[in-house]
Amino acid sequence: MYVKVEAFFPENIKIALKNEPPGAWMPVLPEGCIRLSSGYPDASLVPTMEIKAAVARLLDEEQDLPLHYLGSPRMDKLKALIQNRMQERSMPVAAEELMITAGACQAIDLIARIFLDEQAVVVVEAPTYMEALEIFQNYTKQVISVPIDEEGLQTDRLEAILQERKNAGLPLPRLLYTIPTFHNPTGTTLSLERRKHLIALSVEYDFVILEDDAYGELAFDQNHLSLKAIDKDGHVLYVGSLSKVVAPGMRVGWIAGASEFISALNWFKKDLDHPFAQSTMAAYLETINLDERLIQLKEVYRHKCKTLIGALEKHLPENVSWYIPKGGYFVWVRIPGVDTATLLTQALAEGVSFIPGKFFYQDDQNGTEYLRLSYSFATENDIVDGVKKLGKII
Ligand SMILES: Cc1ncc(COP(=O)(O)O)c(C=O)c1O
Repeated sequence: MYVKVEAFFPENIKIALKNEPPGAWMPVLPEGCIRLSSGYPDASLVPTMEIKAAVARLLDEEQDLPLHYLGSPRMDKLKALIQNRMQERSMPVAAEELMITAGACQAIDLIARIFLDEQAVVVVEAPTYMEALEIFQNYTKQVISVPIDEEGLQTDRLEAILQERKNAGLPLPRLLYTIPTFHNPTGTTLSLERRKHLIALSVEYDFVILEDDAYGELAFDQNHLSLKAIDKDGHVLYVGSLSKVVAPGMRVGWIAGASEFISALNWFKKDLDHPFAQSTMAAYLETINLDERLIQLKEVYRHKCKTLIGALEKHLPENVSWYIPKGGYFVWVRIPGVDTATLLTQALAEGVSFIPGKFFYQDDQNGTEYLRLSYSFATENDIVDGVKKLGKII
């Protein structure tokens, strides 16, 4: 080693590098393992041939344009298509209130970057999406976790925490991160009453809500009004993604919110998104009926979810419990008295994977009796076989 690498990093980066490395939660899968850990779309639903055709058509029609930094008219078209979708979902936004990003993760990172420094306080749900947690922990140590239950974030607990901090003269949060609809990892959905309460709290305590809606289009029956659709004061920065409904490798997501926020975010996004993926996505979307595609996706995931729940009822002991999701990709399972990190070692040896609950908490002493199962990626047969294996080990 010729250079003393550490010496080049500023203090905040050195502190961030003391955290677990990114993806430390991801199990190393033995060959042929049944993947109840993977929050990926069902492989049969990824539109490979349609995207291949979209790339060919895009390059035939536009030649080199999509291969420059900017230039493909389809980049604007993608924005317009997303604006239409937002309008249909009761969230009309002007062009200057919308930014396309390289997936929801880039969106979350950019938002963290403009809102957070070491002094900033951020609120997350407990449990929460571990990649978002990793992102926030890169910027601040001051992460407050508020528990969720079957109806999502416990907004009365949040209110009590805010009140206590205010009374004690402690800094109040600038940002609250939530996945109100078909939550990762719990599959829960925030009730309408709590949605309204959360918006009221964002006004009273003046914080911004980062609404992560990665699964919002995947309702098994009823759609839910987003926080962004309820918000009247611009306190919500909405993050959407096409990863779960088209293809995650395309890295297409977006942020919708007050134009001043979008403008500030632009300072830092620069050219870090992907024009070719965006113009390909537009060329793909213009050939399909998204509503029809979503009906098909929801049908498949509803059925797979039912299969998983049926297998849990049949093959797991009586004292094991879970929330029944109304959409999305995940089921959150509690096995009283079992350390699910230890269970994973045995499960992998038997050829089935899941994510132990502790990875979804900032304090990994929490969630040790929980695990996240995903029904999105594995086939129906594998789902049943995987749960049978888990039942046998437990
Ligand atoms: C809640 C949540 N947000 C965001 C993402 C990532 O989305 P993207 O692929 O658009 O970065 C995921 C993927 O698992 C997720 O579960």
